[in-house]
Amino acid sequence: MTENLVDDITQSASLTLPDGQRADLPIVVGTEGERAIDISKLRAQTGYITLDDGYTNTGSCQSAITYIDGEAGILRYRGYPIEDIAKHCSFIEAAQLVIWGELPSPDQRSHFSDILTENSALPEDFRRHFAAFPPHAHPMSIMSALINALQSYDLPGLTIDSDEEFERVSATLMSKVRTIAAASYKSSIGEPIIYPRYDLRYVENFLHMMFSRPYRNFVPTAEATRALNLFLILHADHEQNCSTSTVRMVASGQANLYASVAAGVCALWGSLHGGANQAVIEMLDLILESGMSTKEYIAKVKDRSSGIKLMGFGHRVYRNFDPRSRILKDACDDLLNALNIDDPRLNIARELEEVALADDYFVSRRLYPNVDFYSGTILTALGIPPEMFTVIFAIGRTAGWIANWKEIHDNPASRIYRPRQIYVGPPQREWMNRFQREKATSQEFRVPDELRSDGGVVA
Ligand SMILES: CC(C)(COP(=O)(O)OP(=O)(O)OC[C@H]1O[C@@H](n2cnc3c(N)ncnc32)[C@H](O)[C@@H]1OP(=O)(O)O)[C@@H](O)C(=O)NCCC(=O)NCCS
Repeated sequence: MTENLVDDITQSASLTLPDGQRADLPIVVGTEGERAIDISKLRAQTGYITLDDGYTNTGSCQSAITYIDGEAGILRYRGYPIEDIAKHCSFIEAAQLVIWGELPSPDQRSHFSDILTENSALPEDFRRHFAAFPPHAHPMSIMSALINALQSYDLPGLTIDSDEEFERVSATLMSKVRTIAAASYKSSIGEPIIYPRYDLRYVENFLHMMFSRPYRNFVPTAEATRALNLFLILHADHEQNCSTSTVRMVASGQANLYASVAAGVCALWGSLHGGANQAVIEMLDLILESGMSTKEYIAKVKDRSSGIKLMGFGHRVYRNFDPRSRILKDACDDLLNALNIDDPRLNIARELEEVALADDYFVSRRLYPNVDFYSGTILTALGIPPEMFTVIFAIGRTAGWIANWKEIHDNPASRIYRPRQIYVGPPQREWMNRFQREKATSQEFRVPDELRSDGGVVA
């Protein structure tokens, strides 16, 4: 239940409009003192709507899942600082915290673990879907399509009417998203799909399905497992970003959990959102292969006509630092040292960061490394190819999407998301039949005879 999480509405703001109307608008205060003007009755009272292209200043909901203070670089899941969660939790514990609001008891942890394991394999006839995709299909395209297809294999999952059913569907989705992700990779490289194992934990099982072959078992190192756990924890939720808002939008129309999450995967794909980690590695490769210096690359970024961005920099919400990037930067150093990898891309990333943070272009716009700046280097060290980066982001974010879907589903006061717009197209026009339209068009473009110097030929 999320309606009026904080109902201490003691103040209001008054708005005076050009036509002299006055609206008194309640102020809503969040747990951490964030303030919003509640404009939900504004149109009914005055006929006006608010306009906020890109939603930079719009709260779309009240939510009890994640708290971010972009100015102070704070990220908390259900009240716990991300730094503590990253230090003490496995990804599955973090996911349970995000979805159910509390850290799991030992019983809850082992019960959820059991149903994850029980649901990890794909139905046998489901596996043929992978063969229907052309070779080298992007794993994000396979994943979004097959999460949606999964619903057809879980017809009871269409309606969720008990806590037990929600837990079962959540576990099925979280477990199979991981299996689908690994299978998408295997099918995109033309290798046989590997079955999950009952004796492996969530992250190890994923690495097994990614890298084992029918004739050779892959055993991930403890460092690799830890780094991937960390990556998934840091991506588990992030408030009302593009894909989570998409999930909530789809859920608000009462679409089932699978369909809503599949929509989230599509939204995540874009290079300004989840696709940025792949774009960072492509940028580092480009710098490396072209022999360009980092200063030269930064100069290109600053030249606005180039249309080039420093990928992995900037964030809509974090304006001083992204706490996730700090954790990942340290983890990246640790992992590369432990695996004894000397990746020249990491040196370029470090140099880019140094040059950018000393440059007024970035400082004045408050652009800092975001979570994607170092995550690609970590995933590369784990042997994961760039086209899988966003897929792995999606595995982590599935926890947050499920939690956000649940907030909509459990809230009896929830309404379908339906923003309004300001129409800027043509005003009302007089209807013409085809003949009239053609005549009007030819008159419109007819060059007057006295101006024609070409003897009547118009190119
Ligand atoms: C994340 C991002 C989409 C946020 O966008 P936003 O909040 O709409 O910010 P804006 O695009 O309005 O950026 C403000 C200014 O900084 C510039 N800017 C933002 N990110 C930049 C980047 N990565 N490189 C160069 N310039 C950048 C913008 O061009 C704009 O400049 P202007 O004021 O002179 O027009 C944007 O910073 C970006 O594209 N970053 C690179 C992609 C990325 O790493 N995405 C992952 C996010 S976790």
